[in-house]
Amino acid sequence: MSALAGAAVAHDFDLGVWLVDRLARVEAALERFLGIDAPDGLGEAMRYAVQGGGKRLRPLLVLAACEAVGGQPGAALRAACAVELIHAYSLVHDDMPCMDNDVLRRGKPTVHVQFGEAQALLAGDALQALAFELLTPDDGVDCATQARLCRLLARAAGSQGMAGGQAIDLAHVGKPMNEAALRRMHALKTGALLQASVEMGAACGACDDAALQALARYGAAIGLAFQVVDDVLDVTQDSATLGKTAGKDAAQDKPTYVSLLGLEGARAHADALLAQAHAHLAASGLADTRALAALADMVVRRTH
Ligand code: IPE
Ligand code: IPE
Ligand code: MG
Ligand code: MG
Ligand code: MG
Repeated sequence: MSALAGAAVAHDFDLGVWLVDRLARVEAALERFLGIDAPDGLGEAMRYAVQGGGKRLRPLLVLAACEAVGGQPGAALRAACAVELIHAYSLVHDDMPCMDNDVLRRGKPTVHVQFGEAQALLAGDALQALAFELLTPDDGVDCATQARLCRLLARAAGSQGMAGGQAIDLAHVGKPMNEAALRRMHALKTGALLQASVEMGAACGACDDAALQALARYGAAIGLAFQVVDDVLDVTQDSATLGKTAGKDAAQDKPTYVSLLGLEGARAHADALLAQAHAHLAASGLADTRALAALADMVVRRTH
């Protein structure tokens, strides 16, 4: 929370107050949506994967983008939770022995360590399905908006987004990558879901094409910056601060922005992407993008 307060000062915007309120809404909604009676411990594994940790950056981006376009708050809250469920499922699977083989996530044992591999696999599957159920309620959100939200999330999560990026990641262990290839991998495995968060928030309201394009570009810039910073934090922070195992990328010989550009080069690249993100917001013509601006700062200045 302290890193967020710093970003708030820089923008003369009280991100602290905004965050406390929006985070409370997101946490309450997640708790409500996850209060399901799933068989044989599956619900417990799903709740464990989602609750009790996580910065909730993607949900916050959904809400901030919706507010920037004056959209429907109820639709945005559902979309915010849906994105977080996809993100949480991606973490559960990312940590499994067949992928990054990690034992620590959000300061707790990973889901497969706690519940076993089969239950972790199923919890990820069920979280993914629940995300789309949340986007398609019986009432309250018009069908065209529901369809657009589903399409944005499906595309960002699937082979053209997160899952595709994870496939590239696994195929390149121990292999060097040039900047263009690394940018594509990061843009897919992490950037796509962050960009989709912004676009889904905007889809809960209405804005002109120029503003929509500017928001998409803002989302792409912070989406890539997010993974560049993740690469930096992996080498600069300790496991206690991160809540996940530090130093994993070098240990597993993963190509990262740090291995390609060095620590200072990677940091400078994240700063350049942050400047791009602010420029896209300024070009959007939207009246109030202060929350989005502060969240961009948070993506790059965060300490965990
Ligand atoms: C970590 O994401 C995984 C990546 C996509 C790099 P976050 O840093 O947003 O993780 P949580 O949700 O706060 O735990
Ligand atoms: C994971 O990237 C991106 C996902 C799609 C989950 P990493 O493997 O670098 O994420 P961490 O460092 O384990 O959180
Ligand atoms: Mg990984
Ligand atoms: Mg990982
Ligand atoms: Mg990482």
